[in-house]
Amino acid sequence: MDLNNYYAAEQWQKIQTFAETKASPFLLVDLDRVEFKYQELRHGFPQAHIFYAVKANPSCEIINRLDKLGACFDVASIYELDRVIECGITAERISFGNTIKKATDVAYAYQKGVRLFVTDAQADLEQIAQFAPNSRVFVRVLVESGPTSDWPLSRKFGCDREMAIDLMVQAKKMGLQPYGVSFHVGSQQNDVRVWKTALDAVKHIFDTLQQQHDIQLKLINAGGGFPAQYLAQIDSIQEYARHIQGYLTENFKQEITLFLEPGRSLVGDAGVIVSEVVLIANKSEQDQKRWIYTDVGVFNGLIETLGEMIKYPIYTPKMQNGSPQADVVLAGPTCDSTDIMYEKIGYPLPKDLAMGDRLYWLSTGAYTTSYASVEFNGYPPLKTYYL
Ligand SMILES: Cc1ncc(COP(=O)(O)O)c(C=O)c1O
Repeated sequence: MDLNNYYAAEQWQKIQTFAETKASPFLLVDLDRVEFKYQELRHGFPQAHIFYAVKANPSCEIINRLDKLGACFDVASIYELDRVIECGITAERISFGNTIKKATDVAYAYQKGVRLFVTDAQADLEQIAQFAPNSRVFVRVLVESGPTSDWPLSRKFGCDREMAIDLMVQAKKMGLQPYGVSFHVGSQQNDVRVWKTALDAVKHIFDTLQQQHDIQLKLINAGGGFPAQYLAQIDSIQEYARHIQGYLTENFKQEITLFLEPGRSLVGDAGVIVSEVVLIANKSEQDQKRWIYTDVGVFNGLIETLGEMIKYPIYTPKMQNGSPQADVVLAGPTCDSTDIMYEKIGYPLPKDLAMGDRLYWLSTGAYTTSYASVEFNGYPPLKTYYL
């Protein structure tokens, strides 16, 4: 793990100096970095409306910074809706992006002014027609995330192309405005070519609706899926944009409205979880592999390490001294054996790491605080500070 791949020396100094004044564990978010990631995406997709997926990190500080930059917001529930409204966002900049919602949720969102809903099922569409009349609806098409997504979203969301077409036809009959198609290629999608497969499905839906049903869709919602910089090297956002823009120009000659719904790629790299080593132990005299127990774990911020799927870069100041390193097992502080972050993949940490030393979990701004339990084993939710 080379810290220089993640931070310039003076940026890191700022983080470490701030971190030293606070008791661990906590998440430290650099709002300027969120802004940088937003501008990077904006640069790659100048024509897009960027809907921040609030679930990645629902803090008002982040929402407000993105609001100033002109972002819109994708909410997954009425609770996120309330949060975004509390932060001062008006309803016309909010999309209800969850296909799973109660009729009362639809009615609540409509009453708050939301007029943009996703759907992928007949029964959900009927609820939208009844409780959010005349709203715009877009249909989510099923996409296979494939092995290249570190946090796949296949199967649970979306419907197949033919059903998507039917739902848009039904929407019109029900007095709704059939607006477009969305998809999600899987979170932390490392292969941009998956967008092409998804856009082929979108094209089929657009063309069939126009040719056979005289319905002209406008919206392509190309989802989230853009990666954060974890342990493995990723392609730049510019590279992703170049490919996706290419597919779009090639396949869609008509005027389209493009939405993006990024979560991880906007806030992931902007966060650092600061933790402390609580205990170092071996399981027998013969077994030299160290177990490092820290004050953060699966239940207070690091749930995406389940199955060792998201591989966070971990830094500790002793790495600077060039001390020799050896692979460790990393586990959290609770009385649950699921609370092990990394066991199969070897994480090398300095051999002279000691109890009380700090570990910095880089690129942990996304899906950490929002996933933390409220009081498992009595541990409070992860605190956040902002730079
Ligand atoms: C509907 C929807 N949009 C956007 C996102 C954000 O995806 P990502 O964090 O990969 O950018 C998600 C993630 O689960 C989602 O479910």
